[in-house]
Amino acid sequence: MTDTLTMPERASKATVTDSLSVTDNRTGKTYEFPVSEGTIKATDLRKIKTSDDDFGLMTYDPAYMNTASCRSAITYIDGDKGILRYRGYPIDQLAEKASFLEVAYLLTEGELPNAAQLDKWTEDIRYHTYVHTNIIKFLEGFRYDAHPMGMLLGVVGALSTFYPDAKHIEDPANRYVQRVRLLAKLPTLAAFVFRHSRGLPYEFPRNDLDYVGNYVNMMFSIGGKHEPNKVLQRALEILLILHADHEQNCSTSAVRAVGSSHVDPFSAVSAGIAALYGPLHGGANEAVLQMLDEIGSKKNIPAFIEKVKSGEGRLMGFGHRVYKSYDPRAKLIKQTADQVFAETGMNPKLEVALELERIALEDEYFIKRKLYPNVDFYSGLIYQAMGYPTDYFTVLFAVGRLPGWLAQWEEMLMDKDQKIARPRQIFIGKDERNFVPMNKRA
Ligand SMILES: CC(C)(COP(=O)(O)OP(=O)(O)OC[C@H]1O[C@@H](n2cnc3c(N)ncnc32)[C@H](O)[C@@H]1OP(=O)(O)O)[C@@H](O)C(=O)NCCC(=O)NCCS
Repeated sequence: MTDTLTMPERASKATVTDSLSVTDNRTGKTYEFPVSEGTIKATDLRKIKTSDDDFGLMTYDPAYMNTASCRSAITYIDGDKGILRYRGYPIDQLAEKASFLEVAYLLTEGELPNAAQLDKWTEDIRYHTYVHTNIIKFLEGFRYDAHPMGMLLGVVGALSTFYPDAKHIEDPANRYVQRVRLLAKLPTLAAFVFRHSRGLPYEFPRNDLDYVGNYVNMMFSIGGKHEPNKVLQRALEILLILHADHEQNCSTSAVRAVGSSHVDPFSAVSAGIAALYGPLHGGANEAVLQMLDEIGSKKNIPAFIEKVKSGEGRLMGFGHRVYKSYDPRAKLIKQTADQVFAETGMNPKLEVALELERIALEDEYFIKRKLYPNVDFYSGLIYQAMGYPTDYFTVLFAVGRLPGWLAQWEEMLMDKDQKIARPRQIFIGKDERNFVPMNKRA
């Protein structure tokens, strides 16, 4: 087996004779384990014991650096070659030719829709765009300065109480309805969250508009009026497509782990939103703009880089757990940025960002560690130019990522190998000891 084979090639080449022999030097015993699809089963290692009452060998893998938690047919990434494909289709072809709803169908239903399937899909989603007006009462409970992601995860979780039927996750038709509901309602909720932050009246869905057009209208319409800009809407659609799935990232793993308890999909997706909220994941583009503000002007870049290199903070929007040559989404985003800035005028922070990128890419520290701009380096600048406030960027990421979460949730439920997620630990705490009364404690 060679390292140059892709995962699917490895799978097809795997034979029953592929195996791994391990000698346990503690006992001198040798074990043979099957190797399939470039992996061994971690549970096979449990057979390696020093005595009958030994629990068996485990692997220690914090942050799942080298552990496949599932078999998946959704998204393929080759981080070294900068490849990203949804269901086999290269991301650049989808970003150029597909609509967001086509991509959502591809991810969740498995194939690109034909014309009739796309019509039905679009119609099904259009039908469900309204949310129960009680949701507004939840939003009213949030303070004026509540973070949009905090509000979003709250109202998406709350939706599970409006649709108690969503707990029937064993019924495929029911799961389809919940997928459609989530896809239809998330832009409405996301727009309501924005209007709440601004103190603006809620703008209800307009079902004569397309998915992205309706979302943008609910965000920006004032007094029932909004002049759509087709270039900006298509740019937003491309950004949503680029974010639609990214295999087993932190938020997707959260959706899978929480969903593995067989909770309803609204609750599982709100866990994904919570994971995405963090600055190392979806919050990174917000952090990029804060960083650019902190740097201020081009002359301060060298000092900032030195600070990062000495371990004081990170260059936000740089580096990726899997992409170690370049992030293919970053390339597409840079093209989109050109189109957006041609419409909106140059964002002054872009100048600082371009210079920062240039300097970092030439610096030994970043070259050695294979740190390149990721999808978040430019997306924040684009969103800002489009009129979205900084703390709202991650909400846009969530709207884009929803099809991926739903596809991965469905795949997890259908996978016979899966059980409730339950990692092991190596216990390093105190051994048993007797309770100490208050007057004897140090
Ligand atoms: C994305 C990220 C979390 C991936 O982290 P990871 O794969 O666990 O990489 P590590 O944290 O192990 O970093 C490896 C090395 O590169 C350094 N490094 C990683 N990202 C860095 C960054 N953005 N700026 C400066 N140094 C960075 C680490 O300090 C470490 O250096 P060391 O080997 O001298 O200790 C990380 O690159 C990061 O924090 N980036 C900034 C946040 C961001 O843009 N996130 C969006 C991801 S889409």
